[in-house]
Amino acid sequence: MGTNDISILAIESSCDETSASMIVNGKVLNNIVATQSVHEKYGGVVPELASRAHQENLIPVIHEAISTSGVSKDQLSAVAFTRGPGLMGSLLVGVSFAKAFARALNVPLIDVNHMQAHVLAHFIEDPKPSFPFICLTVSGGHTQLVLVKDFLDMEVIGETQDDAVGEAFDKTAKLLGLPYPGGPLVDKYAKEGNPKAFQFPITRMPGLNYSFSGIKTAVLYFLRDQLQENPKFIEENLPDLCASIQYTLIEMLLIKLKEAVKQYGVKEIAIAGGVSANSGLRSTLSELARRKGWNLYIPKFEYCTDNAAMIAMAAHYKYLKGEFVGMDVTPLAKMKF
Ligand code: KG4
Ligand code: ZN
Repeated sequence: MGTNDISILAIESSCDETSASMIVNGKVLNNIVATQSVHEKYGGVVPELASRAHQENLIPVIHEAISTSGVSKDQLSAVAFTRGPGLMGSLLVGVSFAKAFARALNVPLIDVNHMQAHVLAHFIEDPKPSFPFICLTVSGGHTQLVLVKDFLDMEVIGETQDDAVGEAFDKTAKLLGLPYPGGPLVDKYAKEGNPKAFQFPITRMPGLNYSFSGIKTAVLYFLRDQLQENPKFIEENLPDLCASIQYTLIEMLLIKLKEAVKQYGVKEIAIAGGVSANSGLRSTLSELARRKGWNLYIPKFEYCTDNAAMIAMAAHYKYLKGEFVGMDVTPLAKMKF
């Protein structure tokens, strides 16, 4: 490690993953993640339990990120953290630690927007998209279409006006009696089902925006009617139900993506976020990309779900531009680009 090397420790604590990552000269050295299983029995993330779990996990996770990197803490160039969007109590744990650590080491502090970081996860490993590209970020907390003009120059061109698509997967899965988080299970059962077995309405919002709250209500009423006639309706039709719900959600995602491509004339397409693990979305999107001649980029799953490597990547570009924040910085539950 020379004096010109840029080494940054990055911390992510916006929701229910506690994560730390070390990056040197733009190369991610590690990505340590502690997942909080405490929320499973509640069927969703419980904010107060998340904050408490961050308090428990943060120091061990950071210790591991530093000790396995070969970089000693007095060689750090900066400390970076997720400023928002996210759960206030969870963000506070990461921000407070980052401030104290940066002050103790006398190095600059870098704040990172979690949604920008999801997009920049595409620059952790090859192949990397070229600018401009369109990124569809889909997870339990977010659904956004982003026009990416440069590393730190992005524009949200469409987003959900209510639930995120991951929430729609999880909430409809719950109606089917599946445990939280239901998204991966819907994916699993859908593989054996007929996507055209049942029809659920496609919600069309103005512009490039999304709405995913309607499908939950549609599935709720549909199941209520069917169960009145046949109490075993769900168990007899689980794969078809999962396949049909998944088909509807994927259709909604791709209709707006196609419109965005047409509107902006961009053929570099990326997806990010936990829902990009969905095998139906992957295969439908890959087929669409092949037909339309798009270049499609999907990062490793480790970099799709919440992680500090993507925060580190964003922090590296901010360091190069000298974009630091003062010690009076505060977390933002809602944060624009
Ligand atoms: O990015 P992520 O780990 O955390 C958030 O920032 O929300 O995304 C989690 C979401 C959950 O809603 C989960 O059900 C969904 O991603 N998910 C999936 C699949 N794997 C994860 N949804 C559908 N199919 C999957 N295979
Ligand atoms: Zn996220």
